[in-house]
Amino acid sequence: MIKKIRKICCIGAGYVGGPTMSVIADRCPHLEVNVVDTNEERIKKWNSKDLTKLPIYEPGLEDVIERRRNKNLKFTSDVKENIANADMIFISVNTPTKSRGLGAGQASDLKWVDLCARQIAKYAKGETIVIEKSTLPVKTAQTINEILKSANTYEEGTNRSKRKFFILSNPEFLAEGTAISDLENPDRVLIGGEDPDAINALAEIYSYWVKKEKIITTDLWSSELSKLISNAFLAQRISSINSISALCEITGADIKDVSLAIGADKRIGKHFLKSGPGFGGSCFKKDILNLVYICNHYGLYEVSSYWQKVIEINEWQQKRISSLIVDKLFGTLFNKKISILGFSFKANTNDTRESPAINICNDLIEEGANLHIYDPKVNEKKIKEDLKNRVKSENINCFVETSINECINNSHAIVIVTEWDEFRNLDWKEIYAKMEKPAWVFDTRNITNSADVLDAGFKFWRTGRTYF
Ligand code: UDX
Ligand code: ADP
Repeated sequence: MIKKIRKICCIGAGYVGGPTMSVIADRCPHLEVNVVDTNEERIKKWNSKDLTKLPIYEPGLEDVIERRRNKNLKFTSDVKENIANADMIFISVNTPTKSRGLGAGQASDLKWVDLCARQIAKYAKGETIVIEKSTLPVKTAQTINEILKSANTYEEGTNRSKRKFFILSNPEFLAEGTAISDLENPDRVLIGGEDPDAINALAEIYSYWVKKEKIITTDLWSSELSKLISNAFLAQRISSINSISALCEITGADIKDVSLAIGADKRIGKHFLKSGPGFGGSCFKKDILNLVYICNHYGLYEVSSYWQKVIEINEWQQKRISSLIVDKLFGTLFNKKISILGFSFKANTNDTRESPAINICNDLIEEGANLHIYDPKVNEKKIKEDLKNRVKSENINCFVETSINECINNSHAIVIVTEWDEFRNLDWKEIYAKMEKPAWVFDTRNITNSADVLDAGFKFWRTGRTYF
């Protein structure tokens, strides 16, 4: 029997660790939840009195933090002490795609997970349940297990014979922008593991707010693989609908109607059928690249090239949008002011990882455009840093504005890249009056009212529909 869980430690205070632990602390006030991160600046932000200064933006997060912080929820950089005291440790560190070495460009970089496992091996005492929460390649749990069992670097004074580790996989399915509601009301909770007591200990925590029938238990590998495949299936739907958006534009159909019609079939379902500038975020591309890598490793070349195409269509959609903007603006963007509305990879988050805006802005800058960018939650430093990492030209002609108004004055075109609510119902007549003519609106997210934009006098393009 595993002892009663009282203290939880989460390693990694990022987009996954922060909100997940906040909700666990909120729903289980009897547990002590400590979130640790080596990034002290990030920890400082999690502890800032002004809740608008939290390191991540998520609707509803501020309220949960206000309720639980410094009660049973703590953010700290004291990794050692919190690992040593924990009955249960979540690993929630970053796992980006490897940039060099074997599997570069496809496999996940496990250096942070490896380091984390070694820290646990060094400091943990007694019985500890170790849970992989980060999205990881299949069989990573096995690696963590081996590190924990064979590590000989345990802290002096720890009674080694009494130490025992139980490894579980508990993938996170939250989507950014809706993280709190996804955590509070998940479609399912997945727990993979070998030890029934350890599985039950984690299931018991979730059972405080999740119905038993929504808690699925599997072996370790099935759980790890299910997370990769969930993301791959979701991404595949987006590439499918985006590929058809191009066909709609050529043939005169409307992708919004096509999505509605096919989504009405219960077997297809209505979600994840919005065509747009392609998927972004930290997970989809990384997970599919992982899947491609695994399939190649096992010689399943047809399977790997099938999934590779999902990424290729995504990149093609972004290039297609950049090219048509250049084309509509008479083949040259030299010295033209273009307003970019939205920079985050989706609405209601300040996350820009793999944001389509980065690729689209890069293409427009390379064509000589003068970009003015506005995003309600992404700050200037982040936008400039992302573009500096992406754009090859020395001269990055880009200004970050603090309002839509500053952005659009005298511009030749507006490109809506993120579906923020505040871009949905703009006063198009007023905006038109302030712009160079012919004035264009490119709505990559299909969120504007096309009749309003056209009535105001604009030339107009939106994904998956052509206006003549
Ligand atoms: C995703 C998964 O949804 C989540 O379960 C997993 O835990 C992490 O990865 P996230 O990347 O945060 O979550 O957001 P998601 O809502 O899935 O959107 C991903 C991308 O797809 C965004 O760029 C979004 O704009 C795009 N998207 C989504 C579309 O283009 N069309 C759609 O219909 C839905
Ligand atoms: P995710 O979206 O998966 O949550 P993030 O990059 O937002 O990813 O967060 C991961 C966090 O994990 C970062 O803040 C990083 O500093 C932290 N981290 C990585 N390795 C360690 C480690 N060994 N110990 C503590 N924190 C770590």
